[in-house]
Amino acid sequence: MPIVRTLLSNRFATATRDRARRTAGRALHRGWKWLQDAGAVTNRNPGPYRFGELGDGTKLAFPLGTVFNEQWVTIGPFSIIGERVTISAGFLPGLDLGPEPIVRIGGGCVIGRGSHIVGHQSIVLGDDVWTGPDVYITDQAHEYRDTELPIGKQWPRNEPVEIGAGSWIGTGAVILPGARIGRNVVVAANSVVSGEVPDHAVVAGAPARVVRRWDAAEGWQPPIRHDAPRPLPDGVTAEQLRALVGWDLRIPGEDDGSAADEQVAGER
Ligand SMILES: CC(C)(COP(=O)(O)OP(=O)(O)OC[C@H]1O[C@@H](n2cnc3c(N)ncnc32)[C@H](O)[C@@H]1OP(=O)(O)O)[C@@H](O)C(=O)NCCC(=O)NCCS
Repeated sequence: MPIVRTLLSNRFATATRDRARRTAGRALHRGWKWLQDAGAVTNRNPGPYRFGELGDGTKLAFPLGTVFNEQWVTIGPFSIIGERVTISAGFLPGLDLGPEPIVRIGGGCVIGRGSHIVGHQSIVLGDDVWTGPDVYITDQAHEYRDTELPIGKQWPRNEPVEIGAGSWIGTGAVILPGARIGRNVVVAANSVVSGEVPDHAVVAGAPARVVRRWDAAEGWQPPIRHDAPRPLPDGVTAEQLRALVGWDLRIPGEDDGSAADEQVAGER
């Protein structure tokens, strides 16, 4: 009998522990969600940050990465800065960096989580620039020509960086000092970009080379290999799109015509 009692008491202890862990897990996730909401930085809820400009509708997700000298950072409206994105101006916090912004991020930009935008002289991202996660953009490199002095102690050199409106920077890409990327450029994942990239180009590799280009006479050369995605039907509403994302990937009105429409109606 003592064995049975021990078994029962062990089972009871395990069930109690499991219940406690479930409760703690739920509380932790709710608490974290609350922290994320409360800690997100916007122009209405700037927390301790004083950006040179934060446009309406722009949000920096919590937790932020390293952000300092943000008085020299401007971000236009309706941009999303992912979690743990570092945005800095100058070497150290607390410097006077002069009258002009150092980092300018346009409106409608999306900066992927874990990315770094490390400015010392000038980094300009046009409107609607989207980056994947873990992208590194900097306008500064260490000098190395003095063979005696440790490289880290040599005076660095800066070259302004520009990324044209509408460009898309793939995950893990590095944008080096002096890069001037045109409009609507695709930078492939893990590419390392320096120098000039023309408008409407796809660049890939390290160092990044143009692998595809567009011009009005010839279109995309070499021709794009994959099929174009099907466009959304005319007149599709935001509600219908929400229903597609949440419930069903069919396009409203397609096939028998009504699956997603019915779901939307059911939601009301
Ligand atoms: C660049 C990309 C968009 C493909 O564009 P694409 O115009 O369809 O390019 P293709 O697949 O036709 O490739 C063209 C050439 O570039 C090369 N290439 C494509 N992506 C590359 C990469 N990341 N690194 C090195 N070379 C690459 C291809 O091998 C191909 O070379 P080839 O002509 O010698 O065969 C895609 O490869 C990519 O990197 N996407 C980024 C994905 C990402 O980071 N997502 C994060 C979410 S935002």
